[in-house]
Formats: sequence, structure tokens, C-alpha cells
Amino acid sequence: MSVYIDEKKCMFCLKTKNTEYQMKADEYGVLKHLWYGKIVNTDMSYLLEYPDVGFSGNPYCAGNDRTYSLNTLPVEYSCEGTGDYRISAVSVIHSNGSNALDLRYKGYSIKKGKYSIKGLPSVYANETEAETLEIILEDTASDIEVVLRYGVLEKLDIITRSAVIRNRGTSTVTLNKAASLCLDIPYGEWEWINFHGRHTMERIPERKPLFHGIQESSSTRGTSSHHQNPSVVLCSSDCTEQYGECIGIFFVYSGSFQTQIEYDQLRQTRLTMGIHPDLFTWRLLSGEEFETPEAVMTYSVSGFSQMSHNFHKVIRENICRGKYKLIERPVLINNWEATYFDFDAEKILNIAKEASKLGVDMLVLDDGWFGKRNGDCSGLGDWFVNENKIQGGLGKLVQNVKSLGMRFGIWFEPEMISEDSDLYRSHPDWAIKIPGRQPVRGRYQLLLDMSRQDVQDYLYNVICNILKSADISYIKWDMNRSISDWYSANLSSERQGELPHRYMLGLYALLERLTSEFPDVLFEGCSGGGGRFDAGMLYYCPQIWCSDDTDAFERTMIQYGTSFIYPISTVGSHVSTVPNHQTGRITPIETRAVTAMAGSFGYELDLGTLSEKEKADVALQIKKFKKFGSLIHGGKYYRLSNPLKDNNALWSYVSDDKKEVLVHGVIFRTEPNMKRMTVKLCGLEPDGYYQIEDTLEVYTGSALMKGGMLLPAPWGDYTPVEFYLKRLEK
Ligand code: DGJ
Repeated sequence: MSVYIDEKKCMFCLKTKNTEYQMKADEYGVLKHLWYGKIVNTDMSYLLEYPDVGFSGNPYCAGNDRTYSLNTLPVEYSCEGTGDYRISAVSVIHSNGSNALDLRYKGYSIKKGKYSIKGLPSVYANETEAETLEIILEDTASDIEVVLRYGVLEKLDIITRSAVIRNRGTSTVTLNKAASLCLDIPYGEWEWINFHGRHTMERIPERKPLFHGIQESSSTRGTSSHHQNPSVVLCSSDCTEQYGECIGIFFVYSGSFQTQIEYDQLRQTRLTMGIHPDLFTWRLLSGEEFETPEAVMTYSVSGFSQMSHNFHKVIRENICRGKYKLIERPVLINNWEATYFDFDAEKILNIAKEASKLGVDMLVLDDGWFGKRNGDCSGLGDWFVNENKIQGGLGKLVQNVKSLGMRFGIWFEPEMISEDSDLYRSHPDWAIKIPGRQPVRGRYQLLLDMSRQDVQDYLYNVICNILKSADISYIKWDMNRSISDWYSANLSSERQGELPHRYMLGLYALLERLTSEFPDVLFEGCSGGGGRFDAGMLYYCPQIWCSDDTDAFERTMIQYGTSFIYPISTVGSHVSTVPNHQTGRITPIETRAVTAMAGSFGYELDLGTLSEKEKADVALQIKKFKKFGSLIHGGKYYRLSNPLKDNNALWSYVSDDKKEVLVHGVIFRTEPNMKRMTVKLCGLEPDGYYQIEDTLEVYTGSALMKGGMLLPAPWGDYTPVEFYLKRLEK
């Protein structure tokens, strides 16, 4: 049991293995937030203060009590227009044009298992894994009802949040904002971390103290974006990988989002996360309701490592779905950086032949196999094989690849349409553009209006036809531009503001249909690399191409940031050629391999161009990944250094029983007469004896964690690090 209710006190308590979350409806029915942190087993409302703060108005029900103000109290779901001047979680326009809302407690219900959300991805858990609490709030002066949902996954220290906004009145209201979560923390001094970036440099963690006022991390691009990730961490100023308090939150949504944190006049912290309100309105007719996407929280008292472990487990086991979620992923060879658009069936088959000799499992045919697609100006939407390039058709190519003992995967960019395509010529109205205005083009292309059923059906049919035309085991689902010019010919003018969210609902509906129809196909998400790397996409695709930057040095930073929230098995990562195509940097092939192994491993070059020695290296790397794959994906991941600051990137994977440890990394720069570096390991059995497989040296877990292990003396730049240790039986 994880939901505890004291009806007399109107107190709600959510308990997980190591954390507790408390709320209480007070004498006026205001649902206050009391606590999210360590297990305390006591009513934490004693921490609340009721100061008489100037210019903090008092609700009418409080009479002459100037100490009771919604502008100073921590509330569970904040409203606007009724005396709370901080960030509001919800914003509605009533039929009389007013925007005021004042939510008070109405009732609650508890269910075994975890709630789900219509048409949206969310954490799934059965009745033994989770409980759901729903708290119903109602407006004091209208028929708006808000249901706050809490999914409690006790063993995983995870609490999920979502809200339902209901119009129980007779007239239409307009919803302008509906956050998935509001977390009002009246205690503590917090810093925050967001994950920012750009194309080819995603999810770089940035940590800073809170300033008074509102700080924000958001996307208005129609995708979760390369620029800010829909995830955030609040942490104590002394928080490190292993010590200190932190609260992590991620959003299970792939469209525009907004995370705001307000540090108020009383040094209190309010955090909201949800669909970006600038790109959102929703008309709620009488009797209708709106369900927000989900936000997922965890609290850790022992630093970022524990937070990441909690998130990795819930994403891997309760968000990712399908056959591939826990099993070994195939080692891929992708032709993109080997050929770009310049290929034919013979060239692809030659790449496959070399790869098969070295042990690669699957060939992935990237962009350029369909329509008139010899460059990026044309062809998107025409998902029919271009037999000038793939002579003999896809069936023959797939058969040839399969006869090498490999499987076959293929690239799509379903949401896009090129103006120079047969699809555009026959359905120009399917593209998102505003009548009378020239649309913005991104990579020369426009977007399909995914809110339309006819567009979804077209895509479903063409993708099904391709998948049924040959034995295809994998799809790379790409998306290569930000969205603009929001307008749908299918929506009335008052509903145009619904398009960004309807686009997401349409995309998810299509992905749901395809993944259910083809349960054996592995879907990999992609958006110019990691522009849509979020838990929403991971519900359909258990792995996502992490970045278009395949430079091993830069990847250590991108993957470092990504690992705070997302499990290693979700990170698409490949060894590519040198000089690297994004940076011109040259790194050793072993270094590229240890970095790419921190993910769903593969290659992205023509292996035929390698020397015999390099080919032997590749064969060995693949063998190693097969040996270590389950430890890498299933073990606990530890960040052992910070590549953004240190002269190395080091990380490790430790099996749950602490018997196996794999340390991987890169020493960036060498110097003459350099003292050897050490790295302190984490998560070992202190009294256990660990033996390094290659050298047979034995150390105690305690020594390796406190004193550290000596790293190799580097020779040249970007020296790879690899140690595999096993605990000896006593
Ligand atoms: C962007 C992806 O991230 C690349 O890997 C590649 O698939 C190209 N698109 C193809 O256009």
C-alpha cells in the first residue's frame, strides 16, 4: 500500500520505498502541498508559516485574517485571478470572459494499479506495482472541476502526475494552460539543472542557483527539441553524484513544453511543467474534459546517481514497450554517413557484406531510397521504392542482405512533405501552412498536418505496404525540422490553437497503430539526432538516435547529459569514420567504440574502407558488446567524472548483484611526464574482492571506491579506458 489517507485531517500521503509526499486540504478546502522528500511519518504542516505579507491579499472566506493568503501558501495546483500572483498551473476563460479560478477540495478516490491517459503515452504499471490517487477539486464559482492524478510506484520511488480539467457547466470554456504538475516547495534552498543544447550538441546539463523571479526551460518548436529537454532537476547546493538531495522530473510528451520555476519573495520554490501555454488553447464544451500529458518525479537523498537509477528503471521497464524493451538490441550498420544520398543497391549490399563478415546484425538503409530523393529538396511523402537506385526492388535487396545472415531496417520521415513530391502535388492542403502566408521551410520541407485522420491513414497505409513488401525488422522514424505556421484546414478558427497538441495526438495515434500492427519491428526515434529525445517517444521507440554528432569526444558530453534522465539502452550511438564528419576530429577506433557502446551500439561508415587491423578491431568490439551488452543495458550506470570539466569522461556499469563491473571512458588530453589519473568506482561491495580480467590484479571494493583505480598512462589524445572486473567468490 502506498496511498495513506487521514480523512479527519483531510491529509493525503503517498509513500514509496524511500520517499514521502504529503498534501492536506485545510479548513477552507485549499489543497496545500506539505512535503516531498525523505520518509518522515509525521504531519509536516508544522513547517507552514502564515505571515502577514503586504500586498498578499486574503481570500474572502478567511474573513479578517490577514495571515491567510494564497499568495504565500504552498498549493497543490495553483490558479490565476484569485490572489495567487505566482505561476499558475491552470488558466481558463469562462463564458463571461473572466479568467478567475479558485479550486477547493471536493473528494478523492484510490485505485489499484496506475491510471492511463487517453491517446497519450504514460507510465504503465499493474496492480501489484502501483496505486492511483485522484483528488477532485472544484472551482468556488463555476462548474470547472480539476482532478489531480497521482500514480505511485512504490518500489521504484516514482510518483507520476497528470491533471484532468472538466467542464461540468452548460457553456463552453477555453483552456489556455493546463500544467501536468505543480510542485510548491516552501522549504529548502535549491539549485536547478536543465539540459540545453543545439543540433549536434544536445542535453548539456547546466546547474545554477535559483534567482528571485521566474526561470524557465521550454520549447515552442512543436517538438521537445535539441535546445531544451523536457526534464529538470532541483537539487540542494551540496548535491553531488552520491550525496545530497535532489528531485528529478521528466515530461512524457514530445511536443512544445514549458518548465517554469518561481523563487518567490519568501524564498519559496514553485515548479510547473506542462504543454507550452503559448501554443495551446483548448475549447471545452459542456461535459467535456481535457487530460494533460504526464510528468514523472523522483526524489533522491543520495545524489544524482540514485535519481538516474530510479529514472532509468522506470523508463526502461514502465515506459518503453514491446519485444525489444529488455532484450539485447541488434548491432546496426547504417549507411547515412557512408553514402548520404549517393547509393544504389550494389553499394548498399557491399556495405552489408563487409559488415556481415565482422559480426554486424542488421543493415539500416537510411534516407534516399524512395520517390525522387537524390538530395534533401524533394521526395518526402512519396514512400515508394525508387527502383532506379534500388534495382530489383526492396524485396530483392532485403533477400540479399538476409542471405548474408543479417536483418534489414529502413528509414522514414513520415511527418514531412516536400513541395516537390507527388504527394504534395495531389494533396497540397495536407501540409501545415497558413492561407495567404508563405510557410517557413526547414531543410526545404513542410510538415504534414498530423491532426488529420486522412493524413494518418495515408501514412499508415504506405508504411504498412513497405513493411509488408519485404522482411523488415527495424524502422528509423526521423523528423528533421521545427514546426511553425500552425494552421489546419480541418479545424475551425476558434480551434486553431488546438493544432499543436492535436498534431501530437495524431502522431501518437499513428505510432500506436503501427507498433501494434508490427510488434516484431524495432522502432528507433530520431529528429536530426536528438531533437525529440523524450519519454513520450520512448513509449513507442525503445531507442532514439541520440545526436547527429558522432564525434566520440563530443558524444561523451552529450551522453553524459542524456544519462541523467534516460537509460543507456535508449541511446542510439554509432562508431563513425575519421576525420569525423561533424568536427573533423580524429579519435582512435577503440575510443569511438567504448563511447558508442554506451548505448544501442552500431556503426555508421563503410567498413570496407578500414584497414585489416581496424576490421579486426571492429570484430572484437562487436564480440565485446555481445559479451557486455546485458551489463551495459541492464546494470546500474554511474557517471564517474564530469567531461564538461574534467580531462576525462569515465563511467561504469555495475550488475545488480555487484558481481560484475565494466569501467569505460576516454582520457582526453595527454601531457609529457603526466602522473597517472585515478577514478573512484561506485556501487561495489566494500568487502568484496574484485579482479581485473586482463591483469588479474585484485582489489577490495572499498579500496576501489575510496582510493580509486589507476587509469592507463595515456599515449596521444583520446585514450580509451576499459576495465572489466569480477567479484571473486569468498
Ligand atoms: C537526420 C538523422 O539524424 C540522420 O541520422 C539521417 O537519418 C538524416 N536525417 C537523413 O536525412
